[in-house]
Amino acid sequence: HLIDKGNYRHFMEKEIYDQPEAISDTLSHYINFVDNRVIAVSGDIAFANVQSLAISACGTAYLAGLIGKYWFERYARLPVEIDVASEFRYREIPLSPQAAALFISQSGETADTLACLRYCKEYGLKTGAVVNTRESTIARESDAVFPIFAGPEIGVASTKAFTCQLAVLAALAVAAGRARGTVTEKEEQILVERLAEMPRVMAQVLDSIQPKIERLSRELAKCRAVLYLGRGTSFPLAMEGALKLKETSYIQAQGYAAGELKHGPIALVDENMPVIVIAPHDRFFDKTVSNMQEVAARGGRIILITDEKGAAALKLDTMHTIVLPNVHEIIAPMIFSLPVQLLAYHTAVFVGTDVDQPRNLAKSVTVE
Ligand code: G6P
Repeated sequence: HLIDKGNYRHFMEKEIYDQPEAISDTLSHYINFVDNRVIAVSGDIAFANVQSLAISACGTAYLAGLIGKYWFERYARLPVEIDVASEFRYREIPLSPQAAALFISQSGETADTLACLRYCKEYGLKTGAVVNTRESTIARESDAVFPIFAGPEIGVASTKAFTCQLAVLAALAVAAGRARGTVTEKEEQILVERLAEMPRVMAQVLDSIQPKIERLSRELAKCRAVLYLGRGTSFPLAMEGALKLKETSYIQAQGYAAGELKHGPIALVDENMPVIVIAPHDRFFDKTVSNMQEVAARGGRIILITDEKGAAALKLDTMHTIVLPNVHEIIAPMIFSLPVQLLAYHTAVFVGTDVDQPRNLAKSVTVE
Protein backbone atom coordinates (compact mmCIF):
# COMPACT_ATOMS: atom_id res chain seq x y z
CA HIS A 1 0.00 0.00 0.00
CA LEU A 2 1.02 3.56 -0.58
CA ILE A 3 3.10 5.10 2.13
CA ASP A 4 2.54 8.82 2.36
CA LYS A 5 2.97 11.62 4.83
CA GLY A 6 -0.72 12.36 5.13
CA ASN A 7 -1.11 15.82 6.61
CA TYR A 8 2.37 15.89 8.07
CA ARG A 9 5.31 17.85 6.68
CA HIS A 10 7.80 15.06 7.16
CA PHE A 11 7.79 11.33 7.75
CA MET A 12 9.60 11.89 11.03
CA GLU A 13 6.72 14.03 12.28
CA LYS A 14 4.13 11.52 11.09
CA GLU A 15 6.03 8.65 12.68
CA ILE A 16 6.21 10.48 16.02
CA TYR A 17 2.42 10.90 15.92
CA ASP A 18 1.96 7.27 14.79
CA GLN A 19 3.25 6.06 18.13
CA PRO A 20 0.05 5.53 20.12
CA GLU A 21 -1.24 3.24 17.37
CA ALA A 22 2.09 1.53 16.75
CA ILE A 23 2.53 0.83 20.45
CA SER A 24 -1.01 -0.43 20.75
CA ASP A 25 -0.53 -2.81 17.79
CA THR A 26 2.76 -4.01 19.22
CA LEU A 27 1.49 -4.54 22.75
CA SER A 28 -1.50 -6.51 21.55
CA HIS A 29 0.92 -9.29 20.53
CA TYR A 30 2.62 -9.38 23.91
CA ILE A 31 -0.11 -8.66 26.39
CA ASN A 32 -3.40 -10.28 27.22
CA PHE A 33 -5.51 -7.28 28.15
CA VAL A 34 -8.33 -9.39 29.54
CA ASP A 35 -6.43 -10.84 32.46
CA ASN A 36 -3.47 -8.40 32.44
CA ARG A 37 -0.82 -11.04 31.82
CA VAL A 38 2.10 -11.10 29.43
CA ILE A 39 1.61 -13.59 26.64
CA ALA A 40 4.17 -16.40 26.69
CA VAL A 41 6.13 -15.41 23.60
CA SER A 42 9.64 -16.38 24.55
CA GLY A 43 9.78 -19.15 21.95
CA ASP A 44 13.10 -20.95 22.07
CA ILE A 45 14.47 -18.77 24.84
CA ALA A 46 13.84 -20.35 28.24
CA PHE A 47 14.28 -17.28 30.42
CA ALA A 48 13.82 -19.40 33.53
CA ASN A 49 17.06 -21.24 32.83
CA VAL A 50 19.35 -18.71 31.21
CA GLN A 51 22.10 -17.29 33.38
CA SER A 52 22.61 -14.03 31.58
CA LEU A 53 21.58 -12.05 28.56
CA ALA A 54 23.81 -10.56 25.87
CA ILE A 55 22.35 -7.69 23.85
CA SER A 56 23.87 -6.07 20.78
CA ALA A 57 22.55 -3.49 18.34
CA CYS A 58 23.50 -0.24 16.61
CA GLY A 59 22.39 3.36 16.89
CA THR A 60 18.97 3.98 18.35
CA ALA A 61 18.30 0.25 18.64
CA TYR A 62 21.37 0.00 20.89
CA LEU A 63 19.97 2.71 23.14
CA ALA A 64 16.68 0.80 23.36
CA GLY A 65 18.75 -2.20 24.44
CA LEU A 66 20.46 -0.14 27.15
CA ILE A 67 17.08 0.74 28.64
CA GLY A 68 16.13 -2.94 28.30
CA LYS A 69 19.17 -3.82 30.39
CA TYR A 70 17.78 -1.85 33.34
CA TRP A 71 14.51 -3.77 33.06
CA PHE A 72 15.94 -7.27 32.67
CA GLU A 73 18.26 -6.71 35.59
CA ARG A 74 15.62 -5.15 37.82
CA TYR A 75 12.55 -7.25 37.05
CA ALA A 76 14.12 -10.57 36.00
CA ARG A 77 17.37 -10.34 38.03
CA LEU A 78 19.11 -11.36 34.83
CA PRO A 79 22.62 -9.91 34.31
CA VAL A 80 22.90 -8.18 30.94
CA GLU A 81 26.01 -7.67 28.85
CA ILE A 82 25.35 -5.05 26.19
CA ASP A 83 27.48 -3.31 23.61
CA VAL A 84 27.23 -1.68 20.22
CA ALA A 85 27.41 -4.45 17.66
CA SER A 86 30.63 -3.19 16.07
CA GLU A 87 32.41 -3.65 19.42
CA PHE A 88 30.53 -6.71 20.63
CA ARG A 89 31.57 -8.78 17.62
CA TYR A 90 35.29 -8.18 18.14
CA ARG A 91 35.64 -7.99 21.92
CA GLU A 92 36.17 -11.69 22.42
CA ILE A 93 33.58 -11.70 25.19
CA PRO A 94 33.64 -14.93 27.19
CA LEU A 95 30.13 -16.08 26.24
CA SER A 96 28.52 -19.03 27.97
CA PRO A 97 26.01 -21.30 26.21
CA GLN A 98 23.83 -20.75 29.29
CA ALA A 99 23.38 -17.16 28.15
CA ALA A 100 20.75 -16.04 25.67
CA ALA A 101 21.38 -13.29 23.16
CA LEU A 102 19.05 -10.57 21.91
CA PHE A 103 19.56 -8.52 18.76
CA ILE A 104 17.58 -5.37 18.25
CA SER A 105 17.22 -3.99 14.74
CA GLN A 106 14.49 -2.04 13.03
CA SER A 107 15.55 -3.21 9.56
CA GLY A 108 16.84 -6.63 10.58
CA GLU A 109 19.67 -6.11 8.09
CA THR A 110 22.33 -4.09 9.91
CA ALA A 111 25.66 -5.73 9.06
CA ASP A 112 27.32 -5.48 12.47
CA THR A 113 24.23 -6.71 14.31
CA LEU A 114 23.92 -9.65 11.95
CA ALA A 115 27.59 -10.50 12.52
CA CYS A 116 26.94 -10.55 16.29
CA LEU A 117 24.03 -12.92 15.78
CA ARG A 118 26.19 -15.35 13.79
CA TYR A 119 28.96 -15.04 16.37
CA CYS A 120 26.63 -15.86 19.27
CA LYS A 121 25.18 -18.84 17.41
CA GLU A 122 28.68 -20.24 17.01
CA TYR A 123 29.00 -20.15 20.78
CA GLY A 124 25.77 -22.11 21.14
CA LEU A 125 23.65 -19.29 22.62
CA LYS A 126 19.92 -19.22 22.02
CA THR A 127 19.15 -16.13 20.00
CA GLY A 128 16.20 -13.78 19.78
CA ALA A 129 15.57 -10.89 17.40
CA VAL A 130 13.55 -7.76 18.14
CA VAL A 131 12.84 -6.56 14.60
CA ASN A 132 10.37 -4.49 12.63
CA THR A 133 10.86 -6.58 9.48
CA ARG A 134 9.98 -10.22 9.87
CA GLU A 135 11.29 -11.15 6.44
CA SER A 136 14.76 -9.85 7.34
CA THR A 137 18.01 -11.78 7.59
CA ILE A 138 18.32 -11.24 11.34
CA ALA A 139 14.77 -12.53 11.90
CA ARG A 140 15.35 -15.55 9.67
CA GLU A 141 18.56 -16.60 11.35
CA SER A 142 17.38 -16.17 14.97
CA ASP A 143 15.86 -18.93 17.09
CA ALA A 144 13.08 -16.67 18.35
CA VAL A 145 11.58 -13.58 16.69
CA PHE A 146 10.02 -10.80 18.76
CA PRO A 147 8.48 -8.58 16.13
CA ILE A 148 7.52 -4.99 16.73
CA PHE A 149 4.52 -3.74 14.79
CA ALA A 150 5.63 -0.18 14.11
CA GLY A 151 4.72 -0.27 10.42
CA PRO A 152 7.12 1.12 7.83
CA GLU A 153 9.54 3.68 9.24
CA ILE A 154 10.79 6.02 6.51
CA GLY A 155 12.51 8.82 8.43
CA VAL A 156 16.18 7.99 8.85
CA ALA A 157 16.05 9.04 12.48
CA SER A 158 14.23 6.24 14.26
CA THR A 159 11.24 7.24 16.42
CA LYS A 160 8.32 4.83 16.51
CA ALA A 161 10.60 1.81 16.07
CA PHE A 162 12.48 2.93 19.20
CA THR A 163 9.41 3.12 21.45
CA CYS A 164 8.02 -0.13 20.02
CA GLN A 165 11.36 -1.83 20.69
CA LEU A 166 11.09 -0.53 24.25
CA ALA A 167 7.53 -1.85 24.60
CA VAL A 168 8.65 -5.33 23.51
CA LEU A 169 11.70 -5.28 25.78
CA ALA A 170 9.54 -4.23 28.74
CA ALA A 171 7.05 -7.04 28.07
CA LEU A 172 9.89 -9.54 27.68
CA ALA A 173 11.52 -8.40 30.93
CA VAL A 174 8.24 -8.91 32.77
CA ALA A 175 7.79 -12.31 31.09
CA ALA A 176 11.34 -13.23 32.10
CA GLY A 177 10.64 -12.07 35.65
CA ARG A 178 7.55 -14.27 35.82
CA ALA A 179 9.48 -17.25 34.45
CA ARG A 180 12.28 -16.70 36.96
CA GLY A 181 10.00 -16.09 39.93
CA THR A 182 11.28 -12.55 40.49
CA VAL A 183 7.98 -10.92 39.50
CA THR A 184 4.87 -12.14 41.32
CA GLU A 185 1.53 -12.58 39.60
CA LYS A 186 0.25 -9.46 41.36
CA GLU A 187 3.29 -7.43 40.25
CA GLU A 188 2.88 -8.72 36.72
CA GLN A 189 -0.71 -7.49 36.68
CA ILE A 190 0.27 -4.04 37.87
CA LEU A 191 3.10 -3.75 35.34
CA VAL A 192 0.89 -4.97 32.52
CA GLU A 193 -1.92 -2.57 33.45
CA ARG A 194 0.57 0.29 33.29
CA LEU A 195 1.94 -0.89 29.93
CA ALA A 196 -1.60 -1.09 28.61
CA GLU A 197 -2.17 2.59 29.47
CA MET A 198 0.69 3.69 27.29
CA PRO A 199 -1.13 4.42 24.00
CA ARG A 200 -3.70 6.60 25.78
CA VAL A 201 -1.08 8.57 27.71
CA MET A 202 1.01 8.98 24.56
CA ALA A 203 -1.94 10.39 22.66
CA GLN A 204 -2.67 12.81 25.50
CA VAL A 205 0.95 14.01 25.60
CA LEU A 206 1.16 14.38 21.81
CA ASP A 207 -2.04 16.43 21.89
CA SER A 208 -0.73 18.94 24.35
CA ILE A 209 3.00 19.58 24.14
CA GLN A 210 3.60 20.75 20.60
CA PRO A 211 3.26 24.56 21.10
CA LYS A 212 5.70 24.56 23.97
CA ILE A 213 8.15 22.32 22.13
CA GLU A 214 8.05 24.58 19.10
CA ARG A 215 8.89 27.67 21.18
CA LEU A 216 11.79 25.88 22.79
CA SER A 217 13.05 24.43 19.52
CA ARG A 218 13.26 27.91 18.00
CA GLU A 219 15.83 28.74 20.69
CA LEU A 220 17.66 25.42 20.48
CA ALA A 221 18.10 25.91 16.75
CA LYS A 222 20.42 28.85 17.49
CA CYS A 223 22.69 26.86 19.80
CA ARG A 224 25.98 25.24 18.88
CA ALA A 225 25.94 22.51 21.51
CA VAL A 226 23.44 20.91 23.84
CA LEU A 227 23.98 18.64 26.82
CA TYR A 228 21.39 16.00 27.87
CA LEU A 229 21.40 14.53 31.37
CA GLY A 230 19.49 11.72 33.08
CA ARG A 231 19.79 8.93 35.64
CA GLY A 232 18.53 5.35 35.51
CA THR A 233 16.60 4.64 32.33
CA SER A 234 16.63 8.39 31.67
CA PHE A 235 20.39 8.12 31.05
CA PRO A 236 20.08 6.05 27.84
CA LEU A 237 17.15 8.29 26.92
CA ALA A 238 19.45 11.33 27.35
CA MET A 239 21.85 9.67 24.89
CA GLU A 240 18.98 8.99 22.52
CA GLY A 241 17.90 12.65 22.76
CA ALA A 242 21.41 13.78 21.91
CA LEU A 243 21.65 11.30 19.03
CA LYS A 244 18.30 12.43 17.62
CA LEU A 245 19.27 16.12 17.83
CA LYS A 246 22.67 15.71 16.20
CA GLU A 247 21.36 13.42 13.45
CA THR A 248 18.54 15.71 12.43
CA SER A 249 19.77 19.24 13.16
CA TYR A 250 23.59 18.80 13.04
CA ILE A 251 23.90 20.51 16.43
CA GLN A 252 26.62 18.99 18.59
CA ALA A 253 24.88 17.12 21.40
CA GLN A 254 25.93 14.70 24.07
CA GLY A 255 23.99 12.60 26.55
CA TYR A 256 25.55 12.00 29.94
CA ALA A 257 24.67 10.21 33.15
CA ALA A 258 23.72 13.09 35.45
CA GLY A 259 26.02 11.65 38.10
CA GLU A 260 28.98 12.08 35.76
CA LEU A 261 28.40 15.82 35.47
CA LYS A 262 31.22 16.63 37.86
CA HIS A 263 33.59 14.33 35.99
CA GLY A 264 33.78 16.39 32.85
CA PRO A 265 30.73 17.92 31.23
CA ILE A 266 30.29 20.62 33.88
CA ALA A 267 33.37 22.28 32.37
CA LEU A 268 31.24 23.01 29.30
CA VAL A 269 28.42 24.69 31.18
CA ASP A 270 27.97 28.42 30.57
CA GLU A 271 25.07 30.72 29.75
CA ASN A 272 25.20 29.67 26.10
CA MET A 273 24.75 25.95 26.45
CA PRO A 274 21.30 24.54 27.12
CA VAL A 275 21.23 21.54 29.42
CA ILE A 276 18.23 19.31 28.84
CA VAL A 277 17.48 17.32 31.96
CA ILE A 278 15.21 14.27 31.75
CA ALA A 279 13.88 13.68 35.25
CA PRO A 280 10.63 11.94 36.06
CA HIS A 281 9.77 11.99 39.76
CA ASP A 282 11.35 8.58 40.37
CA ARG A 283 13.82 7.37 43.00
CA PHE A 284 16.60 9.37 41.31
CA PHE A 285 14.75 12.67 41.21
CA ASP A 286 16.40 14.37 44.19
CA LYS A 287 19.84 13.40 42.98
CA THR A 288 19.15 14.78 39.53
CA VAL A 289 17.83 18.00 41.10
CA SER A 290 21.12 18.47 42.90
CA ASN A 291 22.92 18.06 39.57
CA MET A 292 20.62 20.73 38.14
CA GLN A 293 21.55 23.03 41.00
CA GLU A 294 25.20 22.64 40.04
CA VAL A 295 24.32 23.59 36.47
CA ALA A 296 22.20 26.56 37.60
CA ALA A 297 24.98 27.80 39.88
CA ARG A 298 27.20 28.11 36.82
CA GLY A 299 24.68 30.07 34.82
CA GLY A 300 23.60 27.06 32.73
CA ARG A 301 20.25 27.23 30.96
CA ILE A 302 18.18 24.27 32.08
CA ILE A 303 15.37 22.77 30.09
CA LEU A 304 13.71 20.29 32.41
CA ILE A 305 11.50 17.48 31.19
CA THR A 306 9.65 16.12 34.19
CA ASP A 307 6.20 15.02 35.37
CA GLU A 308 3.57 16.76 37.52
CA LYS A 309 5.00 15.43 40.77
CA GLY A 310 8.48 16.51 39.75
CA ALA A 311 7.31 19.99 38.77
CA ALA A 312 5.50 20.38 42.13
CA ALA A 313 8.50 19.20 44.13
CA LEU A 314 10.99 21.43 42.35
CA LYS A 315 12.29 24.54 44.06
CA LEU A 316 14.60 25.75 41.38
CA ASP A 317 14.31 28.21 38.52
CA THR A 318 14.67 26.48 35.21
CA MET A 319 14.63 28.26 31.90
CA HIS A 320 11.78 26.03 30.77
CA THR A 321 9.94 23.06 32.16
CA ILE A 322 8.05 20.55 30.09
CA VAL A 323 5.54 18.82 32.35
CA LEU A 324 4.21 15.37 31.48
CA PRO A 325 1.57 13.37 33.34
CA ASN A 326 2.70 11.18 36.23
CA VAL A 327 3.30 7.67 34.92
CA HIS A 328 4.61 4.38 36.28
CA GLU A 329 8.35 4.00 35.83
CA ILE A 330 7.99 1.08 33.41
CA ILE A 331 6.41 3.35 30.81
CA ALA A 332 8.29 6.55 31.64
CA PRO A 333 11.02 5.98 29.01
CA MET A 334 8.44 5.68 26.23
CA ILE A 335 6.39 8.66 27.41
CA PHE A 336 9.49 10.82 27.93
CA SER A 337 10.67 9.85 24.44
CA LEU A 338 7.89 11.98 22.96
CA PRO A 339 9.16 15.45 23.98
CA VAL A 340 12.72 14.30 23.29
CA GLN A 341 11.81 13.29 19.72
CA LEU A 342 9.67 16.37 19.10
CA LEU A 343 12.43 18.71 20.30
CA ALA A 344 14.83 17.14 17.79
CA TYR A 345 12.24 17.27 15.04
CA HIS A 346 11.20 20.90 15.48
CA THR A 347 14.76 22.07 16.02
CA ALA A 348 15.74 20.42 12.74
CA VAL A 349 12.83 22.16 11.00
CA PHE A 350 14.00 25.54 12.34
CA VAL A 351 17.61 24.82 11.33
CA GLY A 352 16.31 23.87 7.90
CA THR A 353 17.96 20.50 7.40
CA ASP A 354 16.65 17.64 5.32
CA VAL A 355 14.83 16.13 8.29
CA ASP A 356 13.85 12.76 6.84
CA GLN A 357 17.12 12.24 5.02
CA PRO A 358 19.90 13.96 6.97
CA ARG A 359 23.21 14.31 5.17
CA ASN A 360 25.62 11.36 5.27
CA LEU A 361 23.18 9.04 7.05
CA ALA A 362 21.44 5.93 5.77
CA LYS A 363 18.30 4.27 7.10
CA SER A 364 19.90 0.89 7.09
CA VAL A 365 23.63 0.22 7.28
CA THR A 366 24.24 -3.08 5.51
CA VAL A 367 28.01 -2.81 5.21
CA GLU A 368 30.50 -2.87 8.05
C1 G6P B 1 21.14 3.60 11.15
C2 G6P B 1 19.86 4.38 11.28
C3 G6P B 1 19.43 4.45 12.73
C4 G6P B 1 19.32 3.05 13.32
C5 G6P B 1 20.59 2.25 13.10
C6 G6P B 1 20.39 0.78 13.39
O1 G6P B 1 22.17 4.30 11.77
O2 G6P B 1 20.02 5.70 10.78
O3 G6P B 1 18.17 5.10 12.85
O4 G6P B 1 19.05 3.14 14.69
O5 G6P B 1 21.01 2.31 11.75
O6 G6P B 1 19.50 0.26 12.44
P1 G6P B 1 18.62 -1.01 12.68
O7 G6P B 1 17.84 -1.21 11.41
O8 G6P B 1 19.57 -2.16 12.94
O9 G6P B 1 17.76 -0.74 13.86
